[in-house]
Amino acid sequence: MSAVRTGLVLMALVMLAACSSSSPTTAAPSATPTICHGGTTPERGEGPYHKSGSPERTSLLEPGVVGTPFSLTGHVLTRSCKPIAAAVLDFWQADGNGVYDTTGYRLQGHQSTDARGAYRLETVIPGEYWQHIHVMVRAPNGAILFTQLYLFPNSPRNQPNPLFDKSLEIKVSGSKGYFDFVLNED
Ligand SMILES: [Fe+2]
Repeated sequence: MSAVRTGLVLMALVMLAACSSSSPTTAAPSATPTICHGGTTPERGEGPYHKSGSPERTSLLEPGVVGTPFSLTGHVLTRSCKPIAAAVLDFWQADGNGVYDTTGYRLQGHQSTDARGAYRLETVIPGEYWQHIHVMVRAPNGAILFTQLYLFPNSPRNQPNPLFDKSLEIKVSGSKGYFDFVLNED
């Protein structure tokens, strides 16, 4: 094969590769990533009841805990909806009477997301005004988000909550809830 012919063949291969990468059927990188659920999960502060060093566990149910059992599932995602594995979630909340444990780790525990970015928490429905569950999310790169998830935002007693945001609402169905966190990660 002559040098000219070899060059033409190489040029054709390069053009073919360029065309296939710009094909509309191929997921080409986008300058503006798909926004996951309308943006990142808002910050809501650590609050006064968070303690470091909580036990690693997915269930906060134990003898003596007051409240109606409730399970919360979901994922930790990037802005473009990619799952974040090994993110640490530290949950804490009031019990069914609206009481926080100020000395120990009752109704507090941390866990890590699995390879699909999924988590599962077994807990109780918090009984205080502005029913909410606190959480600290730590991404594998160390970035930390403190926020709060709200239950039953349409309950009259929750209406005046100035911290409520629609994007922090748990989707509740009976004794189950669903919430995806979206971190400010690529
Ligand atoms: Fe609280």
